Amino acid sequence: MYEFLLNTHSLLRWFVLIPLVILVLRSWQGWITNSKFSSFDRIIKSSTVGFIHLQFIIGLALYFLSPLIQEFIGNLLELVKVKEVRFFGMEHSITMLLAVVFATIGSSKSKKKINDKDSFRVQALWFTIVLILIFMMIPWDFINFTPNR
Ligand code: HEM
Repeated sequence: MYEFLLNTHSLLRWFVLIPLVILVLRSWQGWITNSKFSSFDRIIKSSTVGFIHLQFIIGLALYFLSPLIQEFIGNLLELVKVKEVRFFGMEHSITMLLAVVFATIGSSKSKKKINDKDSFRVQALWFTIVLILIFMMIPWDFINFTPNR
């Protein structure tokens, strides 16, 4: 079960990132060029937020199943000093949780806007922050690292 969740969580990063990048680019373009909010914009927003929520649920399950996290919680005072383990135990999970909250707020705020320009503006601002947080906290080998399990 743990291996299945870990591989699914790992693969789902692309199902979060690709629509998220499209959403951010489309929101800035929509805001700057004053374009209409199309059905494509609705689909890309709901799929982005949907995959972020799914990734959160799987991440949360991983947090309770991962031997790495159990080791971290069991030896907190010692392992909080070990960057590789602390990354998943704290930085990754807390920052991703923040990104999930910002995505949810940004999505509902843009829905409440009466005109399309304001919807795109709100989306551009909130989801740009979400993209930066998620991109920074994905364990890319070229930025961070993945601990040797
Ligand atoms: C929403 C955006 C998220 C993305 C894109 C994401 C992405 C990833 C990726 C790519 C990995 C590495 C998987 C591997 O080793 O191949 C990972 C590991 C992990 N993620 Fe996330 N994650 C997200 C949210 C979360 C959340 C919200 C939590 C917890 C509340 C979480 C908990 C974990 C844990 C515990 C691991 C490491 C598990 C282990 O190595 O045993 N993730 N995540």
